[in-house]
Amino acid sequence: MATRGKLTVVEGMAISEAIAANWDEIYNFQARPGDVLIATYPKSGTTWMQEIVDLVVHDGDEQICQRGPIFERIPFIEFSHVMKPGMEEINAMPSPRILKTHLPVQLVPPSFWRHKCKVIYVARNAKDTLTSYFHFDKHVGIHPDPEPFEEYVRRFMKGDVGWGSWYDHVKDFWEARDKHNILYTFYEDIKKNPQQEIRKVAKFLGKELSEDVLNKIAKLTTFEVMKTNPMANASGFPKELVAQSEKCFMRKGKVGDWKTLFSAQQLEIFEADYKQQMSNTTLTFSDKI
Ligand code: A3P
Repeated sequence: MATRGKLTVVEGMAISEAIAANWDEIYNFQARPGDVLIATYPKSGTTWMQEIVDLVVHDGDEQICQRGPIFERIPFIEFSHVMKPGMEEINAMPSPRILKTHLPVQLVPPSFWRHKCKVIYVARNAKDTLTSYFHFDKHVGIHPDPEPFEEYVRRFMKGDVGWGSWYDHVKDFWEARDKHNILYTFYEDIKKNPQQEIRKVAKFLGKELSEDVLNKIAKLTTFEVMKTNPMANASGFPKELVAQSEKCFMRKGKVGDWKTLFSAQQLEIFEADYKQQMSNTTLTFSDKI
């Protein structure tokens, strides 16, 4: 990769300089009543949930969901200065909009809470998130080089990666879930029982969908189908930002891929640190890590 962006710190969160440069406008983003926000730590299944939500909102109509690439149908707030759709286009979108963010709960633009917008959160277990993020950062221009993996593990544990600490992100959204209008979901649950989780999303969004439609959405959002759907696989991402987007957004889509990267020693260090960082929460992941 020719040039690589750097990380800086905004409000205690490590973030790409390209995002930090426009922080005031991002934080002051004007949500509207009825907007739906998909919030995640990076690499937790954001694109997957985006496609699910768009299909749910449109009653499983796959033709409507072919109207544009996923990042245009559901704009990414912090990236509105980095790529299209820009802030002006997002502001011009008709209500209700579906939007995406990776911001931690305390840095979500306050207008979302003021308007009591619905927020769908997806959490993914730490080791798979780290693994996916490591592969992603190899191909993405806005972040520093993630190599070597050993150093990346250290940085992840410290929160020295884009959008800061995974631990604080998942815990703080967990604590906020009853205070705000937040549906907290897990990547591993969607993988295990997609129909059930899609039903939860539909119910949260006030949609009554038949079992047939729920099954159809589950089929259209499997990894295999999304990978070959050019409107869902993020393959149209600007090449100057993501050299090979197919290797970033639709890589393997598995639970447990961390086993291909972590050495026994890294695992030991990571798990001891994990225990400590997660000791003050009731949040647990299905694989108990
Ligand atoms: P891997 O790198 O482990 O394969 P995000 O959209 O938040 O960037 O997350 C990307 C991760 O979600 C990638 O993980 C990607 O493969 C996975 N993913 C995307 N769509 C998926 C789907 N339909 N089913 C399962 N995993 C999916």
